[in-house]
Amino acid sequence: MDKGTPKAIQLKNYAPPAWLVDTISLHFDLRDGGTTVTSRMGVRQNPARAAEGPAPLVLDGQDMELVSVAIGNRVLSPDEYAVTPDGLSIFKLPAAADVEIVTRIRPEENTALEGLYKSSGNYTTQCEAEGFRKITYFPDRPDVMAKYTVTLEADKDSCPVLLSNGNRVDGGEAAEGRHWARWEDPWPKPAYLFALVAGKLVHVEDRFRTRSGRDVQLRIYVEPGNEDKCAHAMESLKKSMKWDEDVYGLEYDLDEFNIVAVSDFNMGAMENKGLNIFNTKYILARPDTATDTDFLGIEAVVAHEYFHNWTGNRVTCRDWFQLSLKEGLTVFRDHQFSADMNSAPVQRIQEVSRLRQIQFAEDAGPTAHPVRPDSYIEINNFYTPTVYEKGAEVLRMYHTLLGAAGYRKGIDLYFQRHDGQAVTTDDFLAAMRDANPEVEVDWEQFRLWYSQAGTPVVDGEAEYDAASRTYRLTLTQTVPATPGQPVKQPMLIPVSLGLVGPDGEDIPLRLCGEDEQGQTSRVVQFTQAQQTFIFRDVPAKPVPSLFRGFSSPVKLRFGYSDADLTFLMAHDSDAFNRWEAGQTLSTRLILSLVAQRAAGQELRVPDSYVEAMAATLDRASEDPFFASLVLSLPSENYLGQQMPVVDVDGIHAARSLVRRTVGTRLRDRLLTTYDANRQQGEFSITPDAIGRRALKNAALSYLMTAEDAEAGKLALAQYRAGGAMTDVLAALTAIAESDLPERDEVLEDFAQRWKGEALVMDKWFMVQAMVSRPETVERVTALLQHPGFSIKNPNKVYALVGGFAGNPVCFHAEDGSGYAFLADRVIELDRLNPQVASRMAKPFARWRQYDPVRQSHAQRELQRIKSTEGLSPDVYEIVSRSLEG
Ligand code: TRP
Ligand code: ZN
Repeated sequence: MDKGTPKAIQLKNYAPPAWLVDTISLHFDLRDGGTTVTSRMGVRQNPARAAEGPAPLVLDGQDMELVSVAIGNRVLSPDEYAVTPDGLSIFKLPAAADVEIVTRIRPEENTALEGLYKSSGNYTTQCEAEGFRKITYFPDRPDVMAKYTVTLEADKDSCPVLLSNGNRVDGGEAAEGRHWARWEDPWPKPAYLFALVAGKLVHVEDRFRTRSGRDVQLRIYVEPGNEDKCAHAMESLKKSMKWDEDVYGLEYDLDEFNIVAVSDFNMGAMENKGLNIFNTKYILARPDTATDTDFLGIEAVVAHEYFHNWTGNRVTCRDWFQLSLKEGLTVFRDHQFSADMNSAPVQRIQEVSRLRQIQFAEDAGPTAHPVRPDSYIEINNFYTPTVYEKGAEVLRMYHTLLGAAGYRKGIDLYFQRHDGQAVTTDDFLAAMRDANPEVEVDWEQFRLWYSQAGTPVVDGEAEYDAASRTYRLTLTQTVPATPGQPVKQPMLIPVSLGLVGPDGEDIPLRLCGEDEQGQTSRVVQFTQAQQTFIFRDVPAKPVPSLFRGFSSPVKLRFGYSDADLTFLMAHDSDAFNRWEAGQTLSTRLILSLVAQRAAGQELRVPDSYVEAMAATLDRASEDPFFASLVLSLPSENYLGQQMPVVDVDGIHAARSLVRRTVGTRLRDRLLTTYDANRQQGEFSITPDAIGRRALKNAALSYLMTAEDAEAGKLALAQYRAGGAMTDVLAALTAIAESDLPERDEVLEDFAQRWKGEALVMDKWFMVQAMVSRPETVERVTALLQHPGFSIKNPNKVYALVGGFAGNPVCFHAEDGSGYAFLADRVIELDRLNPQVASRMAKPFARWRQYDPVRQSHAQRELQRIKSTEGLSPDVYEIVSRSLEG
């Protein structure tokens, strides 16, 4: 191993901490040019490791200046401790002691946005996963839980607001125009949940009365000028609090709940106890500045962070390998919540599309890892779609296997056993199992969902025997090899299914050898490599509806005919599978066109396909949002995943042809749909209003493919009418992609209008980065110099650089220009913000899926990044895995 190669941490090496910290009292003297942190910890030897005798107290710490160390009131001399770049060891101390450490840090120079840093002049923190060690020396691991008292002192003018976790207990004036505040959090917590905020902020306020009658003060803090964009977040918070009481029996446990929105933030939001810190993107919304997607995202993320108060904070993770214990569970909870607040099928379809596009891709590439990883170099790289989204699917499978009541029994037992503890996914599984002894599930097999990476592939075959009226369904499963896991065992796959009869009605299900009432939909456990399910009393040959509601995160291959799929699109009682049938039909069609194009054949879209889309439009008024999703074709990136070698240009051409054919042939229907779903009157954010906007804009985007003058006029008129950002942005997106002569003028108009709103400008950068036209790479390069862009702001980077990396044709341009652009940005970002740099490096991971020309471009760029001097462990891990893969 060369000198700089970072080391991997292994789950199997976990050992409990030698020392515990029961209490910590922190004092922050916040000043430009140097912030002084005084920490007083009550430490004691961990009784669980007492047998090993006295051990040194080893504390994590990075990037700070040590001022002094004391035990009790005695200042230690330098030979009583050792400081390394990663921490501080105190050699000898009594079995219980008060340790006082003074350090100095420079938040204003912190561009990594981890630890204590400044955003728009305000002090803020981000400690998950290991940022606390950049604030003071501490055992920075989640199984060390302490009670925190925090005192903040700062200049009164520049920092009128002083916040930390828990309840504010005291405060007052100090000399030299300064002031202070003291916060106490009664609940022991790991260091990653610590937070402070100090700055010039304003707030909106509301109250929530818990079901046991306690009043909670709710505040959302934002930069002045944004007060009028907090209402939706506040509503979402109150709905979340109520929902968690109603559905999970969980009540809030402090007198106040504060949210702060900051504009420089590496991720979406953070669940610090009693003081959630958010990316402004997930708080600020007004109809004219935020799209419907933004509104729904705010509702989901506010709920997610609130739900962490129990799933993550009251019960936390023993170590970071258990990350999905809190994230998978909390994502599942926010999915359930969003389904209850909006249209459940629409919510499910959106979850699954995301899972397939992002998580399935990860699971199929060199960075594939289990829901509970067993090794990492940099934990920040493991906040992944696998840990979050696949983790949520694992939770959903518990729910599917146990039913809502059994699932709730398991949850109750989990909290009864583990409140106040730092635990593992095994502990969670044990609670689910023990609360449901009557349910027959092989929990050892179920556990494989945590340890085996890779998306299982299920092949299905069926046979109907008219004479015996039986239907035999045979399923075969294979779990693909993934890095470090060449051989897999069969998984326990819950299959929710139905059999749709020729009349379009579900046939009652009677499994041979079982004596049940014959529900029309049920769950079977598919546990063997191959298994046959035989249904009796089946009056006529059915079309099977498999994995209803996407009951397991697998890929299904079943030999449906196109007619079967069109039939399911129209008749399946499961809305998810009606959508699924349409997606399968579209995927199949586009991939066959890609193959025909490669063979030099002439391309034709069959009438039956256009008719199925016409039927969707004819039924659209029943559920406009759902219809808009049926009309959205699978993305180019998802289609690429279905090919052994991605045909970048072929997919783009074939998908565009299908869109253009539908847009041209169904022009009249699309125009009718467009008109019927225009809204008059006040803006509203109800599921129905959102659905109508989605459908209208789907129609517009199809109409624009025909490139006729009328469609262009519609888009320009919609843009110029202003109003809801959803409509303005849909029009802008269509115009940016088109050949309309007004294109540049409209883009310029948008920038002029919104230059003062950072979040709206992010949309402007993103729209241009996603345009499939060949000049995009030059345009994006030029936009790096735009006054509204900053490489230091993660939202800007995600919009422009991330948007470009998600652009299926331009990022993968055959001349390698897209790869070179991204590699330059990764190298530039790594010096400023390794977390963001590493996220931007991930799109390279799939390079082996492309043709030899593209492969060699990508490999060269990956090597260029890897050989950069002083590379962070974050980027090193992603790039080296990608090259190994
Ligand atoms: N725990 C946070 C969530 O899922 C996400 C998170 C982890 C995060 N690490 C972070 C947010 C770093 C910002 C920065 O809700
Ligand atoms: Zn989370």
